[in-house]
Amino acid sequence: METEITSCRTPGDFERGEQDKMIEANLARVGRKILVMSGKGGVGKSTVASYLALLLSRNGKQVGLLDVDLHGPSVGRLMNVKAGFDMGEEGVVRPYRFSENLGIVTLEMILGDRDRAIIWRGPMKISAIRQFISDIYWGDLDYLIVDAPPGTGDEPLTVAQTIPDAEALIVTTPQEISLSDVRKSIDFCRQVDMKILGVVENMSGLLCPHCGEEIPLFGSGGGVKMATTMGIPFLGQIPIDPQMVDAGDRGDLKGLIEKPELTINQAYAMIEDGII
Ligand SMILES: Nc1ncnc2c1ncn2[C@@H]1O[C@H](COP(=O)(O)OP(=O)(O)OP(=O)(O)O)[C@@H](O)[C@H]1O
Ligand SMILES: [Mg+2]
Repeated sequence: METEITSCRTPGDFERGEQDKMIEANLARVGRKILVMSGKGGVGKSTVASYLALLLSRNGKQVGLLDVDLHGPSVGRLMNVKAGFDMGEEGVVRPYRFSENLGIVTLEMILGDRDRAIIWRGPMKISAIRQFISDIYWGDLDYLIVDAPPGTGDEPLTVAQTIPDAEALIVTTPQEISLSDVRKSIDFCRQVDMKILGVVENMSGLLCPHCGEEIPLFGSGGGVKMATTMGIPFLGQIPIDPQMVDAGDRGDLKGLIEKPELTINQAYAMIEDGII
């Protein structure tokens, strides 16, 4: 079902006090809130956010996955979200039900045309993100995982200001060009007083399908070095696996978690343990 965001209420307009109360009430029912972020684009934030949501929900946790990348949402495609909101009883809007334990919200669920560009300035983005939290019935969750766009702009800032106890999970790739941007994410967290859950190094080496030897495509070990230097926890390294690209493109990340023999799954299991 398609719904339109018809208004672009800006913060400070209307009944903000009322909305704050709804946000507070909804968040009070959520255990851990994790913001997956990075200073760098394309390092695998959406994949990490979606995969962790899948793993945690498979392991019996109630999970919400919220995509606040409004200009370039990916969660809908990675998770093959075909339908819109779950409109139950009158007036109650629920996330798209991916499985019994996992609900998803992404802006793509309310866009008729997925290729349409979203041309919004800050106030509209702030308003949309706040509405995703205040106006949607998330219910009782063990984890709310939030997928952010790259950088330290409106979206992560709105999350930081709206979800005061959010924890940042920072994704990087091993090379310096990514690490230098990620250091800004760490500084962002320190400036807005957001707890840092840890750093994940993604795309850390490629296992040669012929000889099994590891090819350090983007280098290796940069994430752990940076985490040590900056005094934050290091959660793990995820290698490059072409099956991840294929599964993501087909919207079937779920199919991959059923293959325990994959090195990526061993890496993700460690990261999941670190988070729990
Ligand atoms: N470990 C991995 N091995 C192979 N491919 C991966 C891995 N992690 C992510 N990818 C692929 O890399 C691409 C970018 O991933 P993704 O969209 O998750 O990045 P992102 O950081 O969210 O990007 P953006 O900054 O645009 O939001 C996707 O095609 C995804 O399938
Ligand atoms: Mg993304």
